[in-house]
Amino acid sequence: MGIKAVIFDLDGVIVSTDEYHYQAWKSIADKEKIDFDRTINNRLRGVSRAESLEIILENTNKKYTQDEKGELLEEKNNVYKELLKNLSASDILEGVNEVIDYLKANNIKVAIGSSSKNTSLILEKIGLSNTFDAIADGTMITKSKPDPEVFILAANKLEVLPENCMVVEDAEAGVEAALNGKMKVSAVGDAIKCNKATYNLDELINLTNIINENNRYYI
Ligand code: BG6
Ligand code: MG
Repeated sequence: MGIKAVIFDLDGVIVSTDEYHYQAWKSIADKEKIDFDRTINNRLRGVSRAESLEIILENTNKKYTQDEKGELLEEKNNVYKELLKNLSASDILEGVNEVIDYLKANNIKVAIGSSSKNTSLILEKIGLSNTFDAIADGTMITKSKPDPEVFILAANKLEVLPENCMVVEDAEAGVEAALNGKMKVSAVGDAIKCNKATYNLDELINLTNIINENNRYYI
């Protein structure tokens, strides 16, 4: 067995876009006069744009038509993309480049498994478009995390069995998705709190030790 591939979530793991998602949703919620804070925002991590809106609308009695919901989704994405305009390689989170270098040097494949439909745009802005062996994102799936679809797709593209994959996630929904897909998962950031992951990482760089430990008898 051992770890033959690492599948990274994007927002909040590779790059600090999770803050921009929060700001964009906050501007929509304020305009609609709906209570929305960082605690509610944590429930949106890893969840698709449309499902995120449904969670935000739990805090209002107003009934929105499908068209109105569509307009809010478009508005949110416009605000979000405006915030992404200044995104650059300097927004790559601590340890990411070092971990990817380590994995490549040890012949371990790397992939992205993200619910975001903005994945290509973000990877281009941070200069990592050609870094990953496979990309599975929100434009390619029908079921959002905690369904394992996006991670299974990444594993299939890599031609690696789920049991040989390690997912890295900052969302509880993402941790559950990885476990539902029979993969190992390392939690970072907010996902540590749910205490469901195979490993909790205080710092991403510690992933190298975990990979080492898992592969000691296989490489
Ligand atoms: C996930 C984020 O990566 O992508 C969620 O954690 C977001 O907060 C989801 O809702 C969908 O992103 P996008 O870019 O398609 O709106
Ligand atoms: Mg995330």
